[in-house]
Amino acid sequence: MPKLTKSKSQGKSQGKRMPKLTKSKSQGKSHRKSQRTHTRKQRGGGPPGLSIRSTPSSACDIPHSDFTKTDAEEFYEENRNPLTPYTINKGDLIGKPLFVKQIPATHVRAISCKTIASLFGQESREESSKYLSPVLAQYTLRDGTLLQLLLHEGPDLLDLAKKTPAILASNSRTIVQSLANILSFLNKKKLLHRDIKPENIVWTGKEAKLIDLADIVPGERYTEVGFGTNTYLPPDFKGDFSPEVNAYAMKRTEELLGLTVNAH
Ligand SMILES: Nc1ncnc2c1ncn2[C@@H]1O[C@H](COP(=O)(O)OP(=O)(O)OP(=O)(O)O)[C@@H](O)[C@H]1O
Ligand SMILES: [Mg+2]
Repeated sequence: MPKLTKSKSQGKSQGKRMPKLTKSKSQGKSHRKSQRTHTRKQRGGGPPGLSIRSTPSSACDIPHSDFTKTDAEEFYEENRNPLTPYTINKGDLIGKPLFVKQIPATHVRAISCKTIASLFGQESREESSKYLSPVLAQYTLRDGTLLQLLLHEGPDLLDLAKKTPAILASNSRTIVQSLANILSFLNKKKLLHRDIKPENIVWTGKEAKLIDLADIVPGERYTEVGFGTNTYLPPDFKGDFSPEVNAYAMKRTEELLGLTVNAH
């Protein structure tokens, strides 16, 4: 198996073609190491100059009864770190391992916002969350930052391969099946995920699920240069995303993790 390291997504920093498995910046790693409880300040106790007020919902917003836009704004003012582990001590989220991912305004695309909202709106949440790690709620803040409330579902496949390869090996059949299910779900829903790779798939202990959903676009063809991760893109790739490109990335993922050999 090739040496497992992290690779750069082109959308984040223009990647050179990488011969090995590499992982994107993942600035949040150190913050995710220790789970801590975020204690919310009393209402009105935020930093001077921050007035917490409701703003009209945008097309990006997916409300959750236990995580309101006011919570999101407060969280953002107090925690500027991406992927900071977070526990909300209320409602049906008590005790769940959660974190809030911050997507800067410059990375937020209206098109994928709408897609995520339609996938994780109340009605469709159940089916999508079998294959995609659910976005429990998301809110666009006044500065354009998108905050997503996510369930922490387990290690990503690159972490699994590096830290607990025995678990990867003993679950290889289930993982390969999950990856096939993810691909057919994307195809059925006509969605393109432009950055399929081991670090964007998490292992829940029962199945594999796709993350990094802000890279999803609807449709069967989508052209944009600068997205994806070279190792997982076809050699002649010129920016045209398609179901075949998704399938290629999934096949590369399996190959580089050694799953194809182990699963059969
Ligand atoms: N739902 C989740 N469950 C468990 N771990 C997760 C989940 N979502 C993200 N992570 C962890 O956080 C890492 C980074 O997450 P993610 O891929 O969403 O962001 P990113 O790639 O750093 O950012 P960007 O949006 O710029 O691509 C993942 O590789 C994974 O280890
Ligand atoms: Mg990622």
